[in-house]
Amino acid sequence: MLSSEAETIAFGAALANAIGEQGAVIYLDGDLGAGKTTLSRGLVRAFGHSGAVKSPTYTLVEPYELSDKSIYHFDLYRLSQPEELYYLGVEDYLQKPAAVCLFEWSMKGRGEIPPADLTLQLAADSCESHQHRTLAMTTCSDRGRTILQNLADTYAVLD
Ligand SMILES: Nc1ncnc2c1ncn2[C@@H]1O[C@H](COP(=O)(O)OP(=O)(O)O)[C@@H](O)[C@H]1O
Ligand SMILES: [Mg+2]
Repeated sequence: MLSSEAETIAFGAALANAIGEQGAVIYLDGDLGAGKTTLSRGLVRAFGHSGAVKSPTYTLVEPYELSDKSIYHFDLYRLSQPEELYYLGVEDYLQKPAAVCLFEWSMKGRGEIPPADLTLQLAADSCESHQHRTLAMTTCSDRGRTILQNLADTYAVLD
């Protein structure tokens, strides 16, 4: 559970530390306003980016070439066909093994984006305080399992 925007940002930072030098493909799913961009902001900043982290809703992808990390933050909400990704020339981003690729609305890119190491499902529970978000994580790769293990070692409140 993430009780505030600050906690969501802190979780993004903990995830960045758990990823470390490896590459990772992370799907961020959940409704509009669930906190996908907020979590991404915490992650991107923890890798050393000091400027703004804008939602890539209109640009589809926002690249961050940091001193020792490349991060590609996608928001596929406005994509009408997964194949459009191919024409946007994002192939190169998706081939880089050590890059971190974040995909908001991953289902819209089905078939054209790499498989996830981690899938994060965020939800705002309307019955509770609107600050409260729930987070569920699933993994289906060795890389994802390593990241989750690192996270469990450093991030105490996974309830
Ligand atoms: N616990 C929380 N985690 C993330 N965002 C929160 C939380 N509580 C409130 N918010 C607010 O909800 C909104 C989430 O927006 P955003 O991260 O852009 O969502 P998404 O990218 O999923 O559409 C922000 O305005 C943020 O301030
Ligand atoms: Mg967003």
